[in-house]
Amino acid sequence: MKILGISAGSKNGNNDAICKEVLMGAAECGTEVEFIRLLDLELKPCTGCNACLKSLNAGGDGACPIKDDFEWLREKVLDADGIVFSVPVFEKGAAGVFHIILDRFGPRHDRGTNTASMNIARKVGGTGPDLRVLRDKPVAFLGMGGTNYTSRFQCDCAMLAAHLMWTVVENKVYNWTKVFAMEDEKVAHAHQTGIRLADAAADLSKAKYYGDQGMCPHCHSRNFYLNDQAPHAVCCLCGIEGELKIENGKMRFEFAPDQLCLASDTMEGKLHHAADIKSNQAVRMAMRRSDTFQESQQKYIHYLKAFVPDR
Ligand SMILES: Cc1cc2nc3c(=O)[nH]c(=O)nc-3n(C[C@H](O)[C@H](O)[C@H](O)COP(=O)(O)O)c2cc1C
Repeated sequence: MKILGISAGSKNGNNDAICKEVLMGAAECGTEVEFIRLLDLELKPCTGCNACLKSLNAGGDGACPIKDDFEWLREKVLDADGIVFSVPVFEKGAAGVFHIILDRFGPRHDRGTNTASMNIARKVGGTGPDLRVLRDKPVAFLGMGGTNYTSRFQCDCAMLAAHLMWTVVENKVYNWTKVFAMEDEKVAHAHQTGIRLADAAADLSKAKYYGDQGMCPHCHSRNFYLNDQAPHAVCCLCGIEGELKIENGKMRFEFAPDQLCLASDTMEGKLHHAADIKSNQAVRMAMRRSDTFQESQQKYIHYLKAFVPDR
């Protein structure tokens, strides 16, 4: 059994330390551990070419054409029995390098897309996706904020788990971090998270969430999208729509039971979303086949060229 630690922080910084403390806790349970620092890798952003999705939708393996270290990282992630991500807080959310892997682990690794692709592959005799993508595993997200500007962090991080339907054991951000190694309470919590992660990896049926209960009873997020129709609110993480209620001075998010099957981190929700995408795609393809499509594109292609620096 292997627990993988992935730090998105600087070399030997606070995030490396917290990640290693979690791994020490996991190792204490007899688990094999491995440590990766994202900034040591060459990781390019997703270009949105959709090659992976086109391949998966045709029963292929969903390969990505970008040549960098992502495939190496992907192998490590798919092989691990549990993962801890330690991520610096940048601009109130997860640091950019985490967003790069969030996108690269995005639609290509969505459990719904891959389940559908597996069925297509069986029908057409295609390669199909790597079945390790369909395997649940426990994950923990721990973040370091230099201040208390950390309001989007947990939502950003848990989005990665939602794509792959991984079980989140912990999702914690530490505000006003100074020197992690000298902050006993944080060290103890990180160590305990490692033990919990190893226990969950050993028996996934006992895996549970130990973190902040948050506001959304389904995914624990505290981030909501509000429009003008009070008290209507949309959970920014799982997408459930409901109402924010105030009772005895306390805020509560309430939703109808039928919303659960629309949540983006459930198989039902993913299949529902996939059906919506398919309808939209059909309209888009019809527009692309129309006589005026090429003409409409030329207007923008010929208006301004993108500037690039002289090299
Ligand atoms: C570009 C940048 C943006 C940052 N934004 C925030 C922020 O919004 N909130 C916060 O609490 N800390 C912020 N910080 C502080 C970092 O969270 C802190 O330096 C980081 O956790 C250190 O991690 P490391 O020691 O593992 O490299 C920012 C730092 C940088 C470099």
